[in-house]
Amino acid sequence: MGKAVYPGSFDPVTNGHLDIIRRASALFDEVTVCVMVNHAKHCIFSPEERMALIAASVAGLDNVRVDSYDGLLMAYARQKGMDAVVKGLRSGRDFEFENTMDFYNKRIAPEIETVYLMAEHTYVHVSSSGVRELMAFQGDISGLVPDQVVRAIAKKQQEVVL
Ligand code: PNS
Repeated sequence: MGKAVYPGSFDPVTNGHLDIIRRASALFDEVTVCVMVNHAKHCIFSPEERMALIAASVAGLDNVRVDSYDGLLMAYARQKGMDAVVKGLRSGRDFEFENTMDFYNKRIAPEIETVYLMAEHTYVHVSSSGVRELMAFQGDISGLVPDQVVRAIAKKQQEVVL
């Protein structure tokens, strides 16, 4: 099925993202998880930290790469010769957002198709913003993000406290 890019903010990567990455890696020859840099959006983790957390989480998946990009997704996809973009859909809200994104993305690169994977039901309510809110109040994030991320976040929180 060629090469696909799975874009997102991944601030931080969640188990819902990881489920999409795993399923996409079974569908495509190569999947690149791309941390999209958005200067207008305040992120807790730097692009480098987000990439490292993703890399640690996908260590067992041989056809998955991690990258970052500061610019338009479709410019990246075209530049890298991607055959498709992969997105996860959790709800009607995601659908509304993605429907509009698709309008713009198709204007930029009509030849690149976007493939939508339905979120596994366990992860329908899991979001990076929910995880960030729990983090802010030292809530329990285990089971919501990969174990490597739980450990990295605990370490970061300790550093902040010290
Ligand atoms: O994880 P997110 O924040 O929901 O991901 C959204 C993301 C990063 C995939 C989307 O905002 C994006 O593609 N940003 C790059 C800029 C772009 O190409 N925008 C589309 C045309 S308006």
